[in-house]
Order: sequence, then C-alpha cells, then structure tokens
Amino acid sequence: MTKRSIREELNRPETELDARLRPSRFDEFVGQRKVRERLELFVEAARRRGDVLEHVLLSGPPGLGKTTLAGILAEAMGVSLRATQGPVIDKPADLAGLLTGLERGDVLFIDEIHRLQKSVEEYLYSAMEEFVIDIMIDQGANARSVRLTLPPFTLIGATTRVGLLSAPLRSRFGMNCRLDYYPAEELEAIVRRSAAILGVEVDEGGAREIARRSRGTPRIANNLLRRVRDYAQIKGDGRITKIVADAALRMLEIDEDGLDEMDKRVLASLLFRFKGGPVGLNSLAVSVGEEPDTLEEVIEPFLIQEGLLKRTAQGRQATERCWERFRARREAENSNQGRLF
Ligand SMILES: Nc1ncnc2c1ncn2[C@@H]1O[C@H](COP(=O)(O)OP(=O)(O)OP(=O)(O)O)[C@@H](O)[C@H]1O
Ligand SMILES: [Mg+2]
Repeated sequence: MTKRSIREELNRPETELDARLRPSRFDEFVGQRKVRERLELFVEAARRRGDVLEHVLLSGPPGLGKTTLAGILAEAMGVSLRATQGPVIDKPADLAGLLTGLERGDVLFIDEIHRLQKSVEEYLYSAMEEFVIDIMIDQGANARSVRLTLPPFTLIGATTRVGLLSAPLRSRFGMNCRLDYYPAEELEAIVRRSAAILGVEVDEGGAREIARRSRGTPRIANNLLRRVRDYAQIKGDGRITKIVADAALRMLEIDEDGLDEMDKRVLASLLFRFKGGPVGLNSLAVSVGEEPDTLEEVIEPFLIQEGLLKRTAQGRQATERCWERFRARREAENSNQGRLF
C-alpha cells in the first residue's frame, strides 16, 4: 500500500455498513460539548415556538462530525433531510428543484458549500432570507422572471474551508458552529462506543492507544479501530489490548502521534528546506504540492494544536517541540528502532 493511499484510506468516508456508527441523537454524539449545547438549545427554542430552525453553518476539518450533526438536527426537529453537495448544483434551476421539493421545516443539507457556483449562490440569498426564488424562464424577447414561493426551510451548510465562503452567504446563517479536533479522552469514548456497536472487545489500554493516534478525528478513530480489529482477529484472539493496537498501528505505519504522511511532509519541508522558517504559506504549500487553502484550513490546524507549528507575522515557523520530535526520531533511527519522520 502506498503512503498516499494510507492517508486516503484513513479519511475514507464510511460505507453503508458503518452507518451504525454514526450517532443519530445528541446524547450519542460524544464531545464538542459547547457546540452540542448551543445546538440543543437552538433546537429546543425553535421547537417550543413552533418555528422552523434557522439556517446553520457547520465548519471544521474533515471527519469531525459535520454531516453527523446535520442528521442529528433534522432528527431532533422531527423533519426530513435532503442532502446535496455544493459542486453538484450546477445551475439555479437545480437549486429551485431541490427547494420546491421541501416541506415546511425540512432541512436542505449542502455539503462543501464553499464550492457552490457563484450564480447558484446568488439565488440562495433570497431563498434563505425571504423563502422566495426568482427564476428566469425563456430567453430573448420572451424572457421573464417567475417568483416561486418556498416553504420555510432550514439550510444546513457544511464546509472544511470557511475562509472561502463569501461574506453575504456567511451572514445569512443564524448559527455558525466550528468543530475542533477532539481531545484523546473523547476519542477514547468514541472508540469504546464504536467497539460496542461492532461487537469488538477492546480494553482501556487498547482504546487509549487507538484514540491517541487518530489525529483528533472520529472518522480516523473508527477506521483505525476496524483495521486493528482485523489484525487482532488474525494475529491474536480478537481482543484489542494496548500491545495489539500498537503492533497493528505500527504495521500500518501510523505515527505515534497519529500524524499522517502529508503532516510529516509539511513538517519535514518546514524543518529542512526552510530551516525551521519563518516561511510564507504559499511557499510551504508549493514545496509539498498542496493547495495553500487546504494547507491552511485542513492540515495546519492539527499541527498547530499539537504545538508543532506556529503562525507568526513573518510566516510559518517550526516550534521547539517540532525540533525535539525530529531529534528524538533521529536518535531512534540511529539505533535502528524508528523511522525518520
Ligand atoms: N462526536 C461524535 N461522536 C461519535 N462519533 C462521531 C462523532 N463525530 C463523528 N463521528 C463519527 O465519525 C464519522 C465521520 O463524521 P462525519 O461524516 O459527520 O464528518 P464530517 O465532518 O461530515 O466530515 P467531511 O468534512 O469529510 O464530510 C461519522 O460517521 C461518525 O461515525
Ligand atoms: Mg461530511
């Protein structure tokens, strides 16, 4: 398996079989306490008033629970959810089709909302604000616009790149929630919950080891759990202990801290090509062959949280912790026990 595909595999969205792992109620959703409390209150207030839920924007890195929360919100409001993706809606008529198919209070979930076409986005403004949409029909001399009145609905937008959203669109959401990486204790709870659903036996040390190496991300925790389970079945008695988890993750080349290949490439480039920085975002992005926006909004936040990289007015800089990590790896490499980044 190539390194690239390990990264892809760990970020692979769940198959239908894994739908069981996706929480469908607030009380099953582990962690993110502040976001959860705000949303629960938001739902409760709307329900008591008999109102339709206001539009919600969910942002944050991949795999942290945006799609899950959209489903939980619809379920808690007792409405249907219709899901689509920004890039799939390629003309205003597609949007009109989606919107007119909704019933009062329904949720329209638009994933990757930062990738909506500009022309479609403009139609969305009046739909969100006044629940109307003006559609042009016919062309030339016969061209006229027809106003469609929509049932009041809730738009839930999800994005990994909130910085790319236009200000007019962003301002039309009544609630804006940002999800952050999960601390290890919360991931541990997620691993235990998923193991129980999958019928896998995992002890405390095993759950902790998987959690610690999941890059703060529930999706990765669930994917690692499945792969460690396979290993435990073939090489052991099926039980996941710390020793089994460690051996399986080592075989998969999952870093001690859960860093993936791209994380390591960014750090290596920062340390060696740019001598620890400071270096501008664009130069760093080019050096690892990644888009600057992706580097900034998907990759860097975790490295910053881990205290390995910092943003300064002069650019990106490696922290002392990052250098230490490298020295420790080099020593391990010299004694033939580990790998260099
Ligand atoms: N708080 C949580 N508690 C338990 N499981 C969770 C939680 N958040 C996410 N998960 C699990 O992680 C998986 C990934 O979450 P989800 O699909 O909602 O992420 P996402 O933010 O929509 O990612 P993407 O940006 O890639 O679309 C879910 O299927 C679910 O099983
Ligand atoms: Mg999603």
